[in-house]
Amino acid sequence: MEKYIRVKDLEDAALAILPKNARDYYTSGATEEYTLAENKRAFQRLRIRPKCLVGLTSYNLSTIVLGEKVSMPVGISPTAMQRMAHPDGETANVRAAQANGVIYTLSTIATSSIEEVAEAAPNAIKWFQLYIFNDRDLTRSLLARAEKAGFKAIVLTVDTPLFGLRTADIRNKFTLPKHLKLANFEGQIATKVNSTNDFSALNNVDHYLDKSLTWNEIKWLKSITKLPIVAKGILRGDDAVRAVEAGCDGILVSNHGARQLDGVPSTIEALPEIVEAVKNYNVEVYLDGGVSTGTDIYKALALGARMVFVGRPALWGLTVGGEAGVDRMLNILRKELKHTVLIAGTPSVTDITKEMVRHESTYSRL
Ligand code: LAC
Repeated sequence: MEKYIRVKDLEDAALAILPKNARDYYTSGATEEYTLAENKRAFQRLRIRPKCLVGLTSYNLSTIVLGEKVSMPVGISPTAMQRMAHPDGETANVRAAQANGVIYTLSTIATSSIEEVAEAAPNAIKWFQLYIFNDRDLTRSLLARAEKAGFKAIVLTVDTPLFGLRTADIRNKFTLPKHLKLANFEGQIATKVNSTNDFSALNNVDHYLDKSLTWNEIKWLKSITKLPIVAKGILRGDDAVRAVEAGCDGILVSNHGARQLDGVPSTIEALPEIVEAVKNYNVEVYLDGGVSTGTDIYKALALGARMVFVGRPALWGLTVGGEAGVDRMLNILRKELKHTVLIAGTPSVTDITKEMVRHESTYSRL
């Protein structure tokens, strides 16, 4: 794994070996993919302002997220169908998270079940991404299974009344390879859902998403689970306030990997508005989307994220080397973040304040 020095190296290697169907599925953004590119470009528009000679003696990347200690402010975002990347899929990904002391978020649309993932990494801090389906018994059952299997939080996707238009997937008529299954719908649920419809194509999952949802459903969720709820997919300050007032404990600023609606802001652009809107509430704010370097992580922390999540980088690591590949990806980010905090003169994540970064426009008068 030593030859992979940057996450980009893992990405290039993964793209060279993934079958087209899976590669297109993982890489796609919505329609013209402007926001997909902006998720990365917007990070590049921020400048870090290092402080010199601060008297470094040690450094500390660890932080507390929803009451759990994590080794660094980086977790793994939910991405669907990870066995397309590697035969061990989600189970390898969660094992790498466990070995690294970081959070792993399992997608509902996974090729390993809640129980398989829990068994693979009993000591990992696991969160479960949930969609609210029309079938509330199905929703309730997924939630109960996650709770029973020791998952620590529910990450409710709030940006998906239906899935975005992804050109390559439409062209490819994307379906899950025949040897794989959407494992969370197996068993008792399978008879209810799988028997009448082919769940292998995402469009068919779409059909089951409850499009009538409002923030009131957070109350319903809270009545059936004690787990903290993170609202994933927030891009506006007023929605962040609605989420907190409805009872959410965390806000994940996300544009769903730019896969839902093209033209929405990059997540790092959206972050400050959301941090500002909820500053007087007791809520944690996280970010995903476009993060692939230690300096990206640093910039998000400076603008107020408590931690960041990465989705695709874990898929690239997984593709290249299963658990060892995800481990490599996390180690690359850890090393880059360590270098960033030390060279910037902010050795602990709590030192990384807003004044550590500036938008490029404040320097561009020359
Ligand atoms: C996706 C859905 C499944 O973006 O979350 O692929």
